[in-house]
Amino acid sequence: EKFKEQAVVISQEQIAPAIYSLWIKTDKIAQYAKAGQFISIYCDDGSRLLPRPISICEIDKEDSSLHLVYRIAGKGTAEFSEKQTGDHLSVMGPLGNGFPLKGKKAFLIGGGIGIPPILELAKQLNCEKQIVLGYRNSDMFLLDEFKKQGEVYIATEDGSVGTKGNVLDAIRENALDAEVIYACGPTPMLRALKNYAAENNIECWISMEEKMACGIGACLACVCKSKEVDGHTNVHNKRVCKEGPVFLAEEVEL
Ligand code: FES
Repeated sequence: EKFKEQAVVISQEQIAPAIYSLWIKTDKIAQYAKAGQFISIYCDDGSRLLPRPISICEIDKEDSSLHLVYRIAGKGTAEFSEKQTGDHLSVMGPLGNGFPLKGKKAFLIGGGIGIPPILELAKQLNCEKQIVLGYRNSDMFLLDEFKKQGEVYIATEDGSVGTKGNVLDAIRENALDAEVIYACGPTPMLRALKNYAAENNIECWISMEEKMACGIGACLACVCKSKEVDGHTNVHNKRVCKEGPVFLAEEVEL
């Protein structure tokens, strides 16, 4: 079930270069939202009709509010970043399928702006969790929030914090292992994790939200090739924003 609403901005602040943290009060969306889902935010400016998909970072059902952490990627998101407490935002959601919750020893892996949706998942998973976060440099965000949820390992591209390199380098350097992987981040990271999971025979769920554009099934920018892993070799096109954004890694071509 999804809803179109006028959400009210509770608070907004910049938490890293071009990264904003926004809390909105919703009528129903927060009640129905799951970890790994997203919402679409509509622009006030009529010349930009397609909404912008933004992943859900935290869900507060008691307060009926949502935490969104997003990067300014164009005029639409720049417009959202100017909203202040009490302002309204036209939103639709919750959208997408979300992460399946498994009770197995888990890797929770986020890269760059793929980090936010991992936070709500970390809060909801009731199992042994190892959180591995990849940042470009020491401009990190949401770190304190993640540290409350489990052991956190960090990789930075420039080596300024944690392991120098990517999330897999951090996994290897710390000799970590798990039975299930949940990941969201840039495609090269997801591809590397898909291969790692196949080599080590680990169940791997990936959120491909980075590929989304309109978020409502209209632009087809998000289509990926998917094959059913049931012995058949049928290849289908799937829209990440409709059939995803979460897929079993072995089912999609990256
Ligand atoms: Fe436009 Fe999926 S993002 S169709």
